[in-house]
Amino acid sequence: MKAVVFTEYGPPEVLQLKEVEKPVPRDNEILVRIHATPVSFGDTLVRNLKAVSPKKFHMPLLFWLFAKMYFGFRKPRITILGSEFAGEIEAVGKNVKRFKAGDPVFGFRGQSMGAYAEYLCMAENGVVVMKPANMTYEQAAAVPYGALMALNLLRKVDLRPGQSVLVNGASGGIGPFVVQLAKAHFGANVTGVCSAPRLEYVKSLGAERVIDYTRENFSDGDETYDFIFDILGKSSFSKVKRTLKPNGRCLLVSFKMKQLLQMLWTSLFSSKKVICALSTEKAEDLVFIKELIETGKIRTVIDKCFPLAQAAEAHRYVDQGHKKGSVVITVEHSMKE
Ligand SMILES: NC(=O)c1ccc[n+]([C@@H]2O[C@H](COP(=O)([O-])OP(=O)(O)OC[C@H]3O[C@@H](n4cnc5c(N)ncnc54)[C@H](OP(=O)(O)O)[C@@H]3O)[C@@H](O)[C@H]2O)c1
Repeated sequence: MKAVVFTEYGPPEVLQLKEVEKPVPRDNEILVRIHATPVSFGDTLVRNLKAVSPKKFHMPLLFWLFAKMYFGFRKPRITILGSEFAGEIEAVGKNVKRFKAGDPVFGFRGQSMGAYAEYLCMAENGVVVMKPANMTYEQAAAVPYGALMALNLLRKVDLRPGQSVLVNGASGGIGPFVVQLAKAHFGANVTGVCSAPRLEYVKSLGAERVIDYTRENFSDGDETYDFIFDILGKSSFSKVKRTLKPNGRCLLVSFKMKQLLQMLWTSLFSSKKVICALSTEKAEDLVFIKELIETGKIRTVIDKCFPLAQAAEAHRYVDQGHKKGSVVITVEHSMKE
């Protein structure tokens, strides 16, 4: 089969289209014929991991060390990127009960990656479920990472209708789903923070207010919020505290040791708290997300699609910071397969 392989870390050009062996499903696995896979934050990070110092990494030093050990210090150990996918089941192992050949599915591979390819195998009990009926493969592929993380985050707090939420980093992989879930599912009033080119995009997802972080620091304003979700951990709690309502919470998706200590400190001594959130991805959560999509509460906006052979071009486009919505790699299958 064809796959986009990288054997050294570096710029988008390290991504090369190659012939590799087609995987064969084990007894408990499904073989998915991939139709679409988005370019996520994790894909661009791992592609260039050698250049990512502990300082550039948005998580504590220990996480950086684990990432380097897992993905490889000097050369990639996992050579096919892509942690989310949507496609059709081509074959199932003999013990598989939940799926059959022909089922349209979408799913999340996490750090195993491997979706920049024509096929992949997934355990039947992995994070893979039936694709939402009202989404194309391209749209569905762009859901799992951001939506699962957003759902995890929102479940860490007791968000009530009418409460106010600010999402710092509202336009990337995770933020758009926090905006949509907070607004459409929990009934909150949402303010989104991103840079100027993406303000309209974030508004279109349901944010009542948008703030351009290059012109205005939200923590300098008079507005206060029940919850602040900080995707890249760019805010400082000492400044943000005054923009939190009494008993407000600041949830960090990206954090360092300092913020972990703040979480401990505020859990004991402050009514306003820092919460450092880690994601756990479960198939049942993806089923719940699929239902929200089918009731029209979550959607994805596709900025641009690139064929598999142009994966490097797709990465270049993302690296340049132009995207407004998801950038998706599409996989065409020739008739003779
Ligand atoms: N805790 C966990 O378990 C977990 C799991 C997965 C990922 N993560 C972390 O999540 C982060 C990636 O999130 P993502 O995929 O949503 O990233 P992304 O797609 O790169 O999006 C980043 C967002 O942050 C905004 N932004 C950039 N600079 C900013 C600034 N100075 N102030 C405010 N906003 C700013 C961007 O806006 P513009 O594009 O307009 O600049 C964009 O909306 C990584 O740090 C990763 O380590 C954590």
